[in-house]
Amino acid sequence: MANDTQRIEQLRADINRHNRLYYVDASPQISDKAFDELLKELEALEAKHPELITPDSPTQRVGGEPIAGFNTVAHARPMLSIDNTYDRDDLNAWHQRVLKGLDIEASDVNYLAEPKIDGVAVNLRYENGQLTLATSRGDGQRGDDITQNVRTINAIPLKLHSEKDDIPAIVEVRGEIVIPDDEFVRINEQRAEAGEERYANPRNLTAGTLKQLDSKLVAQRRMLFFAHGIGEIEPDTFTLYSDFLQAIRQWGLPTNPLTQVCATIDDVWQTIEAFDAQRRKLQYGVDGVVVKVNDRQQQETLGVRSKSPRWCIAYKYAAEQATTKLLRVDWQVGKTGRLTPRATMEPVFLAGTTVQHATLHNYDEIERKDIHIGDTVVIEKAGEIIPQVISVNAEARDKSAKRIEPPTRCPSCDTEVLKIDEEVDYRCQNPECPAQLRERLIWFAGRDQMDIDGLGEKAIHQLADAGLINSFGDIFTLKDQREKLLELERMGERKVDNLLAGIETAKGRGLRRVLAGLGIRHIGSGGSLRLAQAFGDIDALLGADEDAIAEVEDIGPITAQSVHEFLHSDAGAHVIDELKAVGVDLTEPKLAKPEPSDDSPFAGKTVVITGTLEKFGRKELSTQLESLGAKVSGSVSKKTDLLIAGEKAGSKLDKAQSLGVEIWDEAKLIETLT
Ligand code: IVH
Repeated sequence: MANDTQRIEQLRADINRHNRLYYVDASPQISDKAFDELLKELEALEAKHPELITPDSPTQRVGGEPIAGFNTVAHARPMLSIDNTYDRDDLNAWHQRVLKGLDIEASDVNYLAEPKIDGVAVNLRYENGQLTLATSRGDGQRGDDITQNVRTINAIPLKLHSEKDDIPAIVEVRGEIVIPDDEFVRINEQRAEAGEERYANPRNLTAGTLKQLDSKLVAQRRMLFFAHGIGEIEPDTFTLYSDFLQAIRQWGLPTNPLTQVCATIDDVWQTIEAFDAQRRKLQYGVDGVVVKVNDRQQQETLGVRSKSPRWCIAYKYAAEQATTKLLRVDWQVGKTGRLTPRATMEPVFLAGTTVQHATLHNYDEIERKDIHIGDTVVIEKAGEIIPQVISVNAEARDKSAKRIEPPTRCPSCDTEVLKIDEEVDYRCQNPECPAQLRERLIWFAGRDQMDIDGLGEKAIHQLADAGLINSFGDIFTLKDQREKLLELERMGERKVDNLLAGIETAKGRGLRRVLAGLGIRHIGSGGSLRLAQAFGDIDALLGADEDAIAEVEDIGPITAQSVHEFLHSDAGAHVIDELKAVGVDLTEPKLAKPEPSDDSPFAGKTVVITGTLEKFGRKELSTQLESLGAKVSGSVSKKTDLLIAGEKAGSKLDKAQSLGVEIWDEAKLIETLT
């Protein structure tokens, strides 16, 4: 027994060490086979002494019981995205903005250049060194709890180790999970043999894998992880981001070996060029370089824009191109009735996949590029995903080439299409057009909206063809149609279970996702978030008039009108009633108004901002003052307590002076705020 205990500990230490050598240090010392043997020996000993099994034992990575769906959890810090740039001038312009924003010389900033890995982002939360939670990015505010799946990934330590006792009580590490190319090929071949559909690229496979309900299946796929960010951290002692990377690497988390500290923006550019050559030799996809300001204080000063930080930018490598022949153009009906031309071409291999279709955007674009059917066209993948026709080779055109005519009737419902003056698009005006309905369903179920697992484009067509879904509400009563679902082609027990589980999970995603999914004009992911957080539930939103809606941050009068009109139209009211009836969660945690402390110089004061401020954006300053207890107003009146006047302040300054309102310049503001 004593011997077994010792051997178990030895085996665990050895296995963890070999994992680290493989994933963190990229210098394995034993073969995969020898590694498996250590694991088998440990499994056998633990089977003999189940009381000795610990949650962080390497044997506990094999996966657990399948789950019914994922819980969504709020991120302790939002998971943002990054602005993209495609050329050197843009990169330099960003560098200039950084210098200006920090009011420093070029020699006062250091950058970190990291490969931009084409995988899936996760947030790993370690409490007292133990992995306690792993979440997907989700909408940036909330993600799915995918801990059970992530625990199976050997590259991710279940427990952090340090000789120096320097692991923070709480540390969240963000990073990219990616399935290497050879593993992608292996899994796709296996799927093809089993008659299952192939994944289009490693990123889709990685995303699909992390969303599996059965973690045992996840455990069978080899995945890599590279850390690239910081979430919540307590206590936080890191001055430089590069210090953080170095520390977590010591603790056992893989960071990318190509990462470089760059002293100048020219160094950054050289690194970008050097990576381009290196990336093709890697076993995973790199589609660009992420450049980050290294000093975390500077990062904080620069702050974030609505969705992406100002201290970071992604340089994306130019897309690959291919040449092929245009065979046909069809008009596709979108969710608002818009008709979009879609090209069918001779299949051609481009950046990892075979491409046969491309969007042509609109009729103006066809005329501008002078595209004819039968033409030789150059195509490219925008953002490496959606193929586009870049240009035609007019010299190669022969007599059989045919002009493309604008559409006259909807290809789905055959109603006459209209082109509204000034607009580029032709539209089908029939509100009951079946193609529009399907597109709305696809949008609603889509990743950035209700994110319904198992309900992709194909499934929606299949279910709509079978007459099983005709509205958003129908999706949520599918569970009563199990028998009918099972009768459908390619719908086995497992697929049906997955679909129904995906629908149940989506039911609880909350008001923000529902609003984003309804397809209300002018409402995107930002607007739906603001509305949901401001009103907290659908009834409060239904009770609000246009003015009240327009008072929400970032919601202008046009958007407010559109939202109000939709919610109080027959169709809108009907949709909401339907979703209520089937039990879809139409609430959202309300954004708590920060409690200003009484000693804040702004507490309870009505403040007006005017003129140009050098150091502050209007919006950020308003938010900051509000968090300190101020009410920020747009116009000066007797009720105004304070006017903050920047350069070129005009009539508001005059009015404030005549009313005897207290006036501050920017210097005074900076002094008070810092
Ligand atoms: S940093 C606020 N670093 O790219 C910055 N992201 O396009 C957060 N990605 O969501 C991300 N490699 O999934 C960062 N070295 C890298 C990255 C990286 C890949 C992904 C990440 C992010 C997406 C944004």
